[in-house]
Amino acid sequence: MEQPINDNHDLWSTAEAMVAEGKGILAADESTGTIAKRFDGIDVENTETNRRDYRELLFRTAGYERFVSGVILFDETLRQEAADGTPLVRLLQDAGVIPGIKVDAGAQPLAGAPDETVTEGLDGLRERLTEYRELGARFAKWRAVLHIGADRPSAYAIDVNAHALARYAALCQEAGLVPIVEPEVLMDGDHDIGACFEATEATLRETFYQLANHGVDLEAMVLKPNMVLSGSDASDRASPEEVAELTLTCLLHTVPAAVPGIAFLSGGQGDEESTLNLDAINRLALEVGAPWELTFSYGRGLQAAPQAAWRGERANVERAQAVFLQRARVLAAARMGTYEPSLEDDAD
Ligand code: 13P
Repeated sequence: MEQPINDNHDLWSTAEAMVAEGKGILAADESTGTIAKRFDGIDVENTETNRRDYRELLFRTAGYERFVSGVILFDETLRQEAADGTPLVRLLQDAGVIPGIKVDAGAQPLAGAPDETVTEGLDGLRERLTEYRELGARFAKWRAVLHIGADRPSAYAIDVNAHALARYAALCQEAGLVPIVEPEVLMDGDHDIGACFEATEATLRETFYQLANHGVDLEAMVLKPNMVLSGSDASDRASPEEVAELTLTCLLHTVPAAVPGIAFLSGGQGDEESTLNLDAINRLALEVGAPWELTFSYGRGLQAAPQAAWRGERANVERAQAVFLQRARVLAAARMGTYEPSLEDDAD
């Protein structure tokens, strides 16, 4: 082919770097309300300084860049300075970690659809994206939320959320940012894994239909889906091997090969579960072949352990950094399908 159809070289290489071998993405973009819940769990007051100190702790962890390609930030963090006046975004840039930014304004009740939501934040997004790029962001994230229950997710909820994701993704690419497209089917509920498979397949199918309608360059994006899992309250939880088989089948049915990478959210899975499932997915992909990188973009799955080690105490910073580095190392192995339980003992 003489001429590529698109000429988004910078975006393509950023997307590839985000899902580079042996690395994944840290989602540290909790809104002020969400970080309040995490801090509540460790008895830390939700102040701007505590949020800064906590994120500075993560971004000053020596060596995490070997396992983390990029970090998703919240608006406040992209503008915040470390205690010594260095912009936090500079800490990432100096470590060779790509800064990203959450740009959606959260899930709101969807009119006419009880217990379903639509993610808002498109108003003024073009201008915000331009500013975020100037501040150093090279990719963005938008999370749509779908709920499993009686007659849910509805075709209506899937449709409006996919449409918004596609409008967001097109605006990102226009502004020179790689969109992370995140349609999350929540694991809340007592449904079996089959219900999650159906809901995820329908959601991803509509998402890629809308992305095509909006002219989104699939090589210049990263998909951030849920794994196909049993509901969190299901009596019988599927094994990592079943999760791997149904997740990969679902993705092979719906995600075009042009997409460079798929970075899963952890979605409330425990640390062990989110490690073993990612490892099983990659082991199966090595066996049967998959056209995309399969990695992590974890929030809780990377941060629960360092938060528990930190608890807001200066004296615990080094320990928390060691624990964070260890989680990143373990997940980087799982992301290659080479996780071994002995890796859990290797903390340095
Ligand atoms: P979890 O890994 O905690 O699900 O968070 C990932 C994320 O970015 C959700 O939008």
